[in-house]
Amino acid sequence: LWQSVPLAPPDSIFQLTAAYKEDKFPQKINLGVGAYRDDDNKPWISARRQRGLAALSNTKKKRATRILLSDETLDHEYLPITGLPEFTAAAAKLILGSSSPALAESRVASVQTISGTGANHLGALFLSKFYQWGTNEKKVYLSNPTWANHHAIFKNVGIGPVDYPYYDPKTIGLDFTGLVGALNAAPERSVFLLHGCAHNPTGVDPTPEQWAAIADAMLAKKHYAFVDCAYQGFASGDLDKDAWAVRFFVEKGVAMLVCQSFAKNAGLYGERVGALHIVSPDQETSAKVKSQLSVLSRSEISNPPTHGARIVSMILNNPNMFEAWKQDIRTMAGRIIDMRKELFRLLTEELHTPGNWDHIVNQIGMFSFTGITPAQSKALITDAHVYLTGNGRISMAGLNSKNVRYFAESLDAVVRN
Ligand code: LMR
Repeated sequence: LWQSVPLAPPDSIFQLTAAYKEDKFPQKINLGVGAYRDDDNKPWISARRQRGLAALSNTKKKRATRILLSDETLDHEYLPITGLPEFTAAAAKLILGSSSPALAESRVASVQTISGTGANHLGALFLSKFYQWGTNEKKVYLSNPTWANHHAIFKNVGIGPVDYPYYDPKTIGLDFTGLVGALNAAPERSVFLLHGCAHNPTGVDPTPEQWAAIADAMLAKKHYAFVDCAYQGFASGDLDKDAWAVRFFVEKGVAMLVCQSFAKNAGLYGERVGALHIVSPDQETSAKVKSQLSVLSRSEISNPPTHGARIVSMILNNPNMFEAWKQDIRTMAGRIIDMRKELFRLLTEELHTPGNWDHIVNQIGMFSFTGITPAQSKALITDAHVYLTGNGRISMAGLNSKNVRYFAESLDAVVRN
């Protein structure tokens, strides 16, 4: 029956994790998947457990999990289809701000999703069914480059991806003129996917002035902003600062939705906890939007999972845990910034690697787009056992004080070859 099914290629990011795990080379490094590691290359929670820190009980997730496990009032029943209300309400405040005009006017429909991917999917599905496409083809404009999964997510719901210029290889920075040109050239009411902060894969974000110009162009052409914000906290270490562009767009009245993930900033990769927030012009419209999101979620997952949402809800709604979490985020973002500085120092001051490496310290968030070629990326994998995506993206979180020199030397070698 299935003989004619074509063999699909492995996922470009997760195949790297699998190959890295198989590799027996002692100095191997995984710079593929965007997942935080501490200076001992351990996931955040297990690192603390391994060091046996007395602070374990203060560690936000462990503590939250312990409280949840010992809370006899909690059951294993279904959540509402749209998710745990205290989670979705707190998540909306976290991204839109506690003084958000849209929240005050009850015109945000928030739904719990299967992490950021689920939020992207549900948002795309909703747009596919209900967006006023008019005479426009069902298309979404995606930054070139973007997270590879964006293409698949939109194609799955019948929305064709189209690239807009974003990254300029000459400057290893933002192609702002190209971006604004694309906004102006697209037919009215086009859908543009924007990364709320810490652009994946480039680590290149617009400045506040550039965001303002993007918002103006979006408003002038009545475009729709499909904002993916998977790295709140990782750009600056400050949750509010990283939500600035999203909140600015809401204040300016750009038609928009936001996809939110707690995988990276709460270290809850496997729990799949995220949310979709659709901002509407008024409360009545928002209620209708939410009712349809509920219908869509019901047919896809029925009810979202409880555990991760309960953990995040506890962190967001408990002032002490919230402060501890913010400190965790500063620690994670700070370590990544330190790695950027050290890599830059090694390349420029010690190794005198050919080329300009300013972008290593200028880019922000978990990723750096090194600017090396696909052939050089491949050589890093085969010759040095350093795993990274073919487009030259590295997850800075995979670097630490013990392996950064080996990585710098390996990069230096492939650049010189
Ligand atoms: C990444 O870009 O590495 C992460 O967002 C993980 C993923 O799902 O691809």
